[in-house]
Amino acid sequence: MKTDLPQSFRRLEYRPPNFTFGKVALDIALDPARTIVKSSLEVLPGPEFKPGEPLVLQGQELEFVSLRINGAAHRHFELNPESITIHSLPNEGREAFMVEIISICVPEKNTSLMGLYVSNGNFFTQCEAEGFRKITYFLDRPDVMARYTVTLRARETECPVLLSNGNLIHKEKLPNGWHSAVWEDPFPKPSYLFALVAGKLECIEETITTGSGAKKLLQIWVEPHDLNKTRHAMDSLIASIHWDEKRYGLELDLERFMIVAVGDFNMGAMENKGLNIFNTKYVLAQPETATDADFANIESVVGHEYFHNWTGNRVTCQDWFQLSLKEGLTVFRDQEFSADQMGSESGRAVKRIEDVRTLRQLQFPEDAGPMAHPIRPDEYQEINNFYTVTVYEKGAEVVRMYQTLLGVDGFRKGMDLYFKRHDGQAVTCEDFLAAMADANGRDLTQFKNWYSQAGTPRVKVEEHYNEASKQYVLTLTQSSAKVNQQPFHIPLKMRLLTSNDDQKEQLLELTQEKQSWTFENISEEPVLSINRGFSAPIILNFVQDEADLLTLFSSDDDAFNRWEAGQKLAMQFILDNRLPGAQLIAAYRTLLLDPDLDPAFKELAMTLPAEAYLYEQCASVDPQNIYSARRAFRHAIATELRMEWAALYQQMQTPGDFSPDGVSAGKRSLKNLALSMLLDADVAIWSAMAVNQYQNANNMTDRYVALSGLVVNGSKQAGICLRDFYSRFTDDALVIDKWFALQASRPPIAGVEPTLVDVMRLREHEAFKLNNPNRVRSVIHAFCMGNPASFHQADGSGYAFWADAVLTLDPINPQVAARLARGLDRWRLFAEPYQSKMHAALEKVAASKTLSADVREVISKALAS
Ligand code: PHE
Ligand code: ZN
Repeated sequence: MKTDLPQSFRRLEYRPPNFTFGKVALDIALDPARTIVKSSLEVLPGPEFKPGEPLVLQGQELEFVSLRINGAAHRHFELNPESITIHSLPNEGREAFMVEIISICVPEKNTSLMGLYVSNGNFFTQCEAEGFRKITYFLDRPDVMARYTVTLRARETECPVLLSNGNLIHKEKLPNGWHSAVWEDPFPKPSYLFALVAGKLECIEETITTGSGAKKLLQIWVEPHDLNKTRHAMDSLIASIHWDEKRYGLELDLERFMIVAVGDFNMGAMENKGLNIFNTKYVLAQPETATDADFANIESVVGHEYFHNWTGNRVTCQDWFQLSLKEGLTVFRDQEFSADQMGSESGRAVKRIEDVRTLRQLQFPEDAGPMAHPIRPDEYQEINNFYTVTVYEKGAEVVRMYQTLLGVDGFRKGMDLYFKRHDGQAVTCEDFLAAMADANGRDLTQFKNWYSQAGTPRVKVEEHYNEASKQYVLTLTQSSAKVNQQPFHIPLKMRLLTSNDDQKEQLLELTQEKQSWTFENISEEPVLSINRGFSAPIILNFVQDEADLLTLFSSDDDAFNRWEAGQKLAMQFILDNRLPGAQLIAAYRTLLLDPDLDPAFKELAMTLPAEAYLYEQCASVDPQNIYSARRAFRHAIATELRMEWAALYQQMQTPGDFSPDGVSAGKRSLKNLALSMLLDADVAIWSAMAVNQYQNANNMTDRYVALSGLVVNGSKQAGICLRDFYSRFTDDALVIDKWFALQASRPPIAGVEPTLVDVMRLREHEAFKLNNPNRVRSVIHAFCMGNPASFHQADGSGYAFWADAVLTLDPINPQVAARLARGLDRWRLFAEPYQSKMHAALEKVAASKTLSADVREVISKALAS
């Protein structure tokens, strides 16, 4: 808890450390109430060493016990709430010396889930970004890389399993029922990659042989009752290992690689060296309990964390401003991995569309709001607030642009050079850019602007076709979202569509504010398909008439742009509060009936732009108007195409055993969209079919979608099915999270009590736990951030609930509270009375004197906007 003025950290104030560490030996005696940590540090002069300076180590919420230097008790130190300053170093610190510190922490009281904590009786750690300092005093910064040996001690009955990074080198029974294990990590690493796990866990394991012929042991550790839900994660891990060898020539460098699942976790997962720790949500899956989306997410998160072993661990970040160096790159890698796993070109396109939807729904608003920052921020108050969609997803788009500009082979050359130059180092985004540029002999100076300028760039498109000269002139003008920005280097894939199909796809590089291209011998006025595959993360300012959009929607050979044209059409109709006309309905019908199109693509093409994305198109948002317009438009599609939906519902069945593969999942998604459309068209008629699907489903996707359709459309059967669902899955936390989330996400229904009333009741439910992030997110975040029409009520009730929830959560878990605090970021964009009511809720939170640095930063930036 901090009450003093917020401190800002600035990128340009980076200084290399005075000291660094060689070997680190930790001896940890685990006890929930009193864990004793003895740390032996080999301290060496750092790159910027100046004799006579004290050694300052970070430490938080630690009980200090003792300090020795070179074996002798040392008295020259000061303890501060967040550090220890050690004076009178041997020979003023000029040569290596040993520091030994003993301290105590209390894992069972740790609800922040940073540092060492207890979850369901077992011990876990989370150290990124600055959690290691809650375990022991340390130079807790990523550019201090050391070799760790870790001795874990615990009572054998309570903690039969003792895990840490690297290789297990020794195990021993100790007196009084204790035992110990010694782990050694052969690779130097920063403290944020340290991990330990201890408790009653079991694993499935597998031995594989990697490219060099080496045998590797793979393990997935979970609570015993979850062992039967680990197969998919293991398959995903094996696929990831093979993929990284094949695509990037990168091999697993340890004898053993472990994944551990924990039910209390702030984020998705963590790439600790050789010992990845995962939120159970991204490990556990079985057809009966996990949806297709869960299966796909597990594959991509397992891939993501595994890929960090090279992009993040072997080459790490110099400082936390460089976070996107590892995250943007690793998200790009996991996106490519998932796309390759789809096994077809159209599967790749589906994956691309999904990723772009996320970007637009979450990152575009962030880039236009009070927390906007470049993918490499220049300043932060709390680093935990910068694990953002900008650093991750926009960061991945920036990495993708290198590949677009340099080609897949050129990109690979850049990656090879990056590892050749920087293996074992802590580096910067400039180092990555230089490797890409040098490996390809390209000048990428202007490309740097993507790292330093926030906001989504806009590109205006103007076309002119000259019938007589058969020339087509394309003029592009870029403008940035913020003042005083330099032009970006924007790769735009484009193609002119003509009836004789004689124009090839090209890559245009827009580098100036305004540029024109002339195309010769264009036989007729073409239809422009631009930013194909979403080659740049920009907003296109391009007024295309409905006829052209319909052409693109029915025949663009770029699947992404085909989808995009449909989204643009729907968006224009919804924002003008118009219902789809006969032409558009006919286009939808043709698409739905096209036997050559993937079901997964059809589903995406028929899914309307999210409300959050529609908001960004408005100068002043009336959330209830947007909700009704979008709903009415959807209702029209549901009704007018009901024959097609009914037919698809039958055709897209996937009888037989469940398989989560992309093709089956795609069929299910289209079938389930059909079901939800039918329920929308007439809930009284179609409820029986939904109830039938609910009862007989052999997988969670079908069961959940049927239930959700009943609830969202206010079916009379909803209550019974909800109760049935709860009693079927009472003991499965991840499924109960879905049960909570489904109810908290229900949009308003005429004649049914407001969703907020339900949410208040769910908050009092016996299975609701304020200490468990997954449960909190499934109720509170789902309502405040995933249910716009219910949240944005003119009476401000949603906002009052939000303020209360932020204030309640903050003392328990600042990171979870700060995510929720982001829920009112865009308050300035809203019309009255919403805006004033949001402002009042923000003021209410701001008035608290005990806010964490995390929530304080978010709220003060929102208010200052
Ligand atoms: N580094 C993790 C990832 O992206 C995310 C994370 C950050 C997890 C901070 C926990 C804490 O894979
Ligand atoms: Zn990551």
